[in-house]
Amino acid sequence: MAILEIRKYPDEVLEKKAEPVEAVDEALQRLMDDMVETMYAASGVGLAAPQVGVSKRLIVVDVSHLEGETAPLVVLVNPEIIESHGSIKTEEGCLSLPEFLTTVERAETVTVKGLDMEGRETTMPVEGLLAVALQHEIDHLDGTLILDRASFLKREFYKKQLRKNLAKARAG
Ligand code: NI
Repeated sequence: MAILEIRKYPDEVLEKKAEPVEAVDEALQRLMDDMVETMYAASGVGLAAPQVGVSKRLIVVDVSHLEGETAPLVVLVNPEIIESHGSIKTEEGCLSLPEFLTTVERAETVTVKGLDMEGRETTMPVEGLLAVALQHEIDHLDGTLILDRASFLKREFYKKQLRKNLAKARAG
């Protein structure tokens, strides 16, 4: 296993729509392992393949350090939300957007369909934080960041701050 580099905004891979996975083979399973290890090393609750520079529809999620140890490790290939209900607002962060937090409104319960780590079809109803995390990661596969779900002002402020820091880094 290996810890992968997490791509940060404005890396363009984060804004691309990811390609469907065609086969759950050994190479993909290695990528799953590495993504899980990378997520834990970064103390994140989820990671999508584009965040490690791979434009494929694969996500890993584990909310156990927020929700308690009974929360499962979820690995999903080609995930799709087939049903959603209710709404919930939570403050979200993202490993690709350091120091950025914003309140996002999402469905409270969702049913997600996809392939598991062995390539078997799976359908799971989820709620609460796990549902929020899954929607956040699936957003990544469509090139959508929480930055895009934030208010115009908040987004522009962050971009401006980032440009300033980049300019400072170059000057220094
Ligand atoms: Ni994220």
